[in-house]
Amino acid sequence: MSLIRFNNFSFRYKGNEEYALNRINLEIKENSFILLAGETGSGKTSLIRCLNGLIPQFYAGYYKGSVEIDGKNTITTPISDLSTVVGIVFQNPENQLVAMNVEHEIAFGMENLGIHPNEIGKRIKEVVKITEIEDLLERAPFEISGGEKQRVAMASVLVLDPKILILDEPTANLDPFFANKIIKMLKKIQEKKNISIIISEHRMDLLVPLVDDIILMENGKLIAYDDKDIIMNSELFQKLNINKPKIYSLFSGLEKNHLQFDKIPISLEDALNLFKQYN
Ligand SMILES: Nc1ncnc2c1ncn2[C@@H]1O[C@H](COP(=O)(O)OP(=O)(O)O)[C@@H](O)[C@H]1O
Ligand SMILES: [Mg+2]
Repeated sequence: MSLIRFNNFSFRYKGNEEYALNRINLEIKENSFILLAGETGSGKTSLIRCLNGLIPQFYAGYYKGSVEIDGKNTITTPISDLSTVVGIVFQNPENQLVAMNVEHEIAFGMENLGIHPNEIGKRIKEVVKITEIEDLLERAPFEISGGEKQRVAMASVLVLDPKILILDEPTANLDPFFANKIIKMLKKIQEKKNISIIISEHRMDLLVPLVDDIILMENGKLIAYDDKDIIMNSELFQKLNINKPKIYSLFSGLEKNHLQFDKIPISLEDALNLFKQYN
């Protein structure tokens, strides 16, 4: 059984004529690092809102089909039950931070679930180490930087031990240094915990070399979900108007000028390996 399953699901926000999600069929693979890509407005955030029942329970609109999380229908299962399976960090983490200090913030969800205080202490210790926020525990969530807030939001979701972790543009408000740090950290977490992580992200240069699979969205439709190499070498991806990795764009440009590559390089490392073949 897949943890996440969309059965021909469509959703239209109240007041909109167009469907934000159009006949989505999807089963998420286990133990995979996944990029969710598509132009602005293609439906990435809406897809993510389905994964803890916010769509259709919280957002007013019309839907068809169904979504199941861990076998539970998201139309009827309380959002709080779904959020123990799927952990989501939304785009503006400050909206998710509610406590007076970072330690309480991270403990909050576990306290609500009635987890034993000893276990809470143990888990906090582990998660603050992974997310590198040991020094922030006493601080108030509103007085820390954007990158720190992002990591605190991530810690408070991770600590609940979700089977799938989703992040909606986690680096949108970060400088390249922190963006890189967060993405590398997520890769480490994915490998350590053997969970699936889905990231909606514009910084393809940073993310593409690290992911296993890619989901592509266009106009509310899921147009592809496959192994990264298959997607990156497909015409579908080449045609999509998104911010592609610079190395990739360079080499696919060369391909248009009749140079052929077995596989289009997506990182500097790939490109250097390719040059070595010609030596
Ligand atoms: N809360 C909302 N109310 C009404 N329409 C929305 C809302 N959120 C998103 N939409 C619309 O749904 C479509 C998909 O948007 P979204 O899921 O945010 O795409 P993406 O995350 O890929 O940019 C867009 O046309 C957008 O305007
Ligand atoms: Mg979005």
